[in-house]
Amino acid sequence: MKADLLIHSAAQLCVVPSHDGGPQRGHRLGDLGLVEDGAVACADGRIVAAGPTAEVRADWQAAVELDASGQVVCPGFVDAHTHVVWAGDRADEFVQRVQGATYQEIQARGGGIMATVRATRAASVERLANESRSRLDRMLAHGSTTVEVKTGYGLSTACELKMLEAIDALAVSHPVTLVPTFLAAHAVPDEYGDDPDGYVDLVVEEMLPAILQSPISNFQFCDVFCDEGAFTLAQTRRVLEAARDLGMGLKIHADEFRPLGGVALAVELGAISADHLVCTPPEEIELLGQSETVAVALPATPFGLAHRAYTPAHAILEAGGALALATDCNPGTAWCESMTFVIALACRTMRLTPAQALVAATLNSACAVGLGARVGSLQPGYDADILILDLPGVQHLGYRFGGNPVRQVVKQGRLIQASL
Ligand code: NIG
Ligand code: FE
Repeated sequence: MKADLLIHSAAQLCVVPSHDGGPQRGHRLGDLGLVEDGAVACADGRIVAAGPTAEVRADWQAAVELDASGQVVCPGFVDAHTHVVWAGDRADEFVQRVQGATYQEIQARGGGIMATVRATRAASVERLANESRSRLDRMLAHGSTTVEVKTGYGLSTACELKMLEAIDALAVSHPVTLVPTFLAAHAVPDEYGDDPDGYVDLVVEEMLPAILQSPISNFQFCDVFCDEGAFTLAQTRRVLEAARDLGMGLKIHADEFRPLGGVALAVELGAISADHLVCTPPEEIELLGQSETVAVALPATPFGLAHRAYTPAHAILEAGGALALATDCNPGTAWCESMTFVIALACRTMRLTPAQALVAATLNSACAVGLGARVGSLQPGYDADILILDLPGVQHLGYRFGGNPVRQVVKQGRLIQASL
């Protein structure tokens, strides 16, 4: 049979099989479906075969062949939580933080998320898209082939719609698959400083309907930053219930700084994911473990803030939960564009093995954005989003850090000339 592309002779081919059509949960996390001397073939942008080189070659002839001897072949990374569309930077805040100021102190002085909101409000759609495009280019070069992206630096109906326009411009022009999430409940903007409930009214009554009526709207998820200095549990419930009633999937930023009960709410409302989870109480970890809600850990964020506490991955796995990884790429806490750096952090700070971290960064993170049947695995039928890593084995993933092990990115069957 004829294929478009065949990658063969990989030292290790990681198929990353889904378990029962879903993520790899609890102690079953880390099943790579490893094939030594493996090959993968694709046609029309999809995987058509993955297995031992001799078997795949016997069945498939391809127009283009790539030799992956001595290297690892795995699914493209799915970065399940990013704020990659923004304008400007907050390098000044980084310098203040290394000199001892906290994230919350900087926010109380008018910096933090509002500093990026001001820059984003002042930027044209073109500038917003262009600044973000260079970040997406680097993400792709570092192996991310699917990237979730949140609004939340507009915080007015007009500017949230402008962010939507920038996301749409990138979605149609950039090879990375973007999954847009509506996050107007990211911060209470200055103009509602003494009336946070008034801002929640605006989000629920004006922004949500406006954003969903936009002809370019492709939002699948609504997210809320439920934490001290952001939104209360009651405000979070109000936004998420309204979004659910409009047919959106739900996500939550919970327990990054203080536990407010966001995980229990996410489970109750059937959210697709609960993200951060640095200080989640044990009883809520139990609830999470028994639910379909995917736990998304973002170790670049505590690292970026030089905090000591990280998501308790083993407690989540002990409870039977589905664990995923993402960068949280944002200008405040974690300007990180590299999933392999996140994997290196997760191995050290959350004690994941490289195999567990790889599954958390592919199949399980695909499940966290509702794409677990389309990306994150090299099983036949999945999108042909494939990486060739210049590493002799998966154990080198995370072991080596600070560089880029990605030698070749394939997106929907096409070889990408990655530009850094
Ligand atoms: O995930 N937690 C909310 N949002 C980001 C920070 C965004 C910012 O500081 O601009 C986070 O850490
Ligand atoms: Fe975030």
